[in-house]
Amino acid sequence: EIIHVLLTGGVGSRLWPLSRKSRPKQYIDLFGGYSLFELSVKRNFSLTTKLNVVGNADNNELSEKSLSKLGMFDYTNIVEATPRNTAPAIAFAAFTAQPEDILLVTPADHIIKEGPEYTLAVEQAIALAEQDNIVTFGIQPTRPETGYGYIEYSDNNVLSFREKPNAATAQNFLDKGAFLWNSGMFCFKARVFLEELQKYAPQVYTISLSAWEEAKDGRLETLSSLEIPAISVDYAVMEKSAKMKVVPSAFEWSDMGSFEAIYNYLRELGHPVDLEGNMVIGCEKFTAFVGMKNSIFVCTDDANLVLQKEVSQDVKHIYQKLEHEQ
Ligand code: GDD
Ligand code: MG
Repeated sequence: EIIHVLLTGGVGSRLWPLSRKSRPKQYIDLFGGYSLFELSVKRNFSLTTKLNVVGNADNNELSEKSLSKLGMFDYTNIVEATPRNTAPAIAFAAFTAQPEDILLVTPADHIIKEGPEYTLAVEQAIALAEQDNIVTFGIQPTRPETGYGYIEYSDNNVLSFREKPNAATAQNFLDKGAFLWNSGMFCFKARVFLEELQKYAPQVYTISLSAWEEAKDGRLETLSSLEIPAISVDYAVMEKSAKMKVVPSAFEWSDMGSFEAIYNYLRELGHPVDLEGNMVIGCEKFTAFVGMKNSIFVCTDDANLVLQKEVSQDVKHIYQKLEHEQ
């Protein structure tokens, strides 16, 4: 089987206040009729044979609602008790699958253009995964973004993988030219992934497995879940594995992970900015910016945010602070 593993555990803390705990960004209907979650299900439907959604107790209802809207009733559902980041989330999907099944892992919160480029990239990735590789999808970088992983490559070979470098390193990678952004999508056999996880992050593997053995009907339990180290697959496996391959990809891709990404996306769509590059998101009211450059004003019913575009990664701190105060 070729299983679409849809990761939908993130809370989108860098998009507060657009994205809230009660309605994370992947369920917001920002883009004409379908949420990013729904678009991801639709985009991968004909390229895979099964769907496995990995989400959590807070968003499970939103996922189920979206899937029934799409007429999808036949899927595997894994419900985490608490998010432990992507390495454990993918491990659960791999535990559920048969060892030789191919997993196409995608985030639920990206904008990707469906079409021949996407289909071709996925087909190439599946072919490489069949030869026991761990496959990433590489995107041509356009700025020294610090929120992404960087893949040093030559053809399909990965020379190195570096998750979230600092600004100077990211600029250096960009100048060198032989680096691609990691799209956040992966393709591999369940067995190969678990072997690599066991090799490079044995604790994550072992503790995730014992938590999984206590799960009932795909629902993880809180106590055993809290034992699992929270680590992303990028740090746990991708930076270390010697089985890495990359498919340099030409499909249109945008991670809606930060206000800077949304800003760039909306700007390209023709969303207005003033002469100094300031933008308003979420409100129609006339808004003036004085003495500010490249700043963003985000406006929702019960909270507003003013930020400098370049520091949009830091918005997550506000989210974390508010969460602690609750
Ligand atoms: N089920 C589940 N459980 N899903 C999760 C969890 C979790 O604990 N944590 C995150 N996810 C989901 C998110 O909802 C998102 O769809 C995806 O996994 C990736 O997580 P992010 O937290 O958004 O990762 P990132 O953006 O910092 O970095 C990743 O994506 C970049 C591209 O967008 C990395 O793979 C980078 O290397 C990559 O460049
Ligand atoms: Mg992300």
